[in-house]
Amino acid sequence: PQTPVIAPSMLKCDFGNLDAEIQKLEAAGAATLHLDVMDGHFVPNLSYGPMVIERIRERTKLILDAHLMISDPEKYLDEYIRVGCDWITFHIEAVPEPTALLKKIRDAGRLAGIAINPGTPVDRIAKLKNQVDLVLVMSVEPGFGGQSFIPDAIQKVAEARSLFPSETLISIDGGIGPATIPDVAANGVDVYVAGSSIFDQPCYETAIREMTSIASS
Ligand code: DX5
Ligand code: ZN
Repeated sequence: PQTPVIAPSMLKCDFGNLDAEIQKLEAAGAATLHLDVMDGHFVPNLSYGPMVIERIRERTKLILDAHLMISDPEKYLDEYIRVGCDWITFHIEAVPEPTALLKKIRDAGRLAGIAINPGTPVDRIAKLKNQVDLVLVMSVEPGFGGQSFIPDAIQKVAEARSLFPSETLISIDGGIGPATIPDVAANGVDVYVAGSSIFDQPCYETAIREMTSIASS
């Protein structure tokens, strides 16, 4: 996609009105939909899985950016590939030796992403330098939308940016909005995941446009 990209986190969308929400996000100029998959085990919350994503896939051609906050993603990966996720990111804390899994995602023609929790140093994923297409830096503890941005993420983004090749997308997720984007923008973020700062606003288009312009400046 053209970067920087603001990726609406669908966790906060109205799932009773999925059609309307997707149409509003498309009309608002979103390029990517960020899909937060939670299993009630890796994180203390449960969201949705492949069945819902399959229905979303039928309704849009936007890039589907799946963020798997689940234990044992190797057990379920085939399903996320099958239902049409374009980017598939799982956590290093769930899969300490992720080389084979990352390769499987790439072999399926999708972008392979690795995510790190606030407590996990960037060093832990340094050896994956040439195996990932996307690095997702969590700026909140995963599990819930609407939390406050953890400033330590700023330094981690900078480290990830200098460590990984320039074509690797750096994504930041948690507490992102007009107030926090400037802190990280200078450090080379490509993808800004935003839940509350879009879905709590009356107009998605205005929210996305404002954040895109802050991220680009
Ligand atoms: C948290 C999720 C995020 C979250 C972002 O576990 O990964 O994508 O929904 O929501 P906000 O933008 O409200 O922090
Ligand atoms: Zn997420």
